[in-house]
Amino acid sequence: MLISGRGSNLQSLIDAAKAPDYPAEIALVISNKENAAGLCVAQNAGIPARVIPHQNYESREAFDRAIDMALREAKIDLVAEAGFMRIHSEWFAKTWEGKLLNIHPSLLPLFPGIRVHQQALDAGVKESGCTVHFIVHELDSGPTIAQAAVPVLPGDTAETLAARILVEEHKIYPQALKLVAEKKVVLKDGKSVFRT
Ligand code: GAR
Repeated sequence: MLISGRGSNLQSLIDAAKAPDYPAEIALVISNKENAAGLCVAQNAGIPARVIPHQNYESREAFDRAIDMALREAKIDLVAEAGFMRIHSEWFAKTWEGKLLNIHPSLLPLFPGIRVHQQALDAGVKESGCTVHFIVHELDSGPTIAQAAVPVLPGDTAETLAARILVEEHKIYPQALKLVAEKKVVLKDGKSVFRT
């Protein structure tokens, strides 16, 4: 998993993967920030964690190549990103195409980027939510694997809305990763193809 911060989605995937029939194992955590709280989540679960600071690399692709090397050394099959606040190079997105997942706290394609919940409040939408998608080169876009919606309630702030959505993130990310690990959804010709 690639993270930059808190690691609550990391924790939810670690918990889900404890089930004996769960088809994936969380085998490596990489953070671009050395002070990411999620590194403690990994440590507490006994999962190897590495810090690869992006500022040590002269280009986006050089940083991505360092991540790629760490993933290959650990024989990683799938990469799940959660709160990893770096945009990938086209090279990385292509290299890991179909094996690269992300969670975003909105109903994409609405509200990509940052200040997502404030964007939703400013737009006056009655519902928001979260999306797990395959990563393609463009920021916060790519074929959807799973989504969940929540109501936007009168008096909501960015914080209250974020908290309501986070509960759903912790449900759909384990489900989405399971589908991908079991090849029940694959990326084909730029689309998510679901197999029953
Ligand atoms: C999550 O809400 C995730 O959806 C969001 O960052 C948070 C990370 O929390 N990701 C993005 O905004 C990506 N564009 P976590 O570190 O507790 O999993």
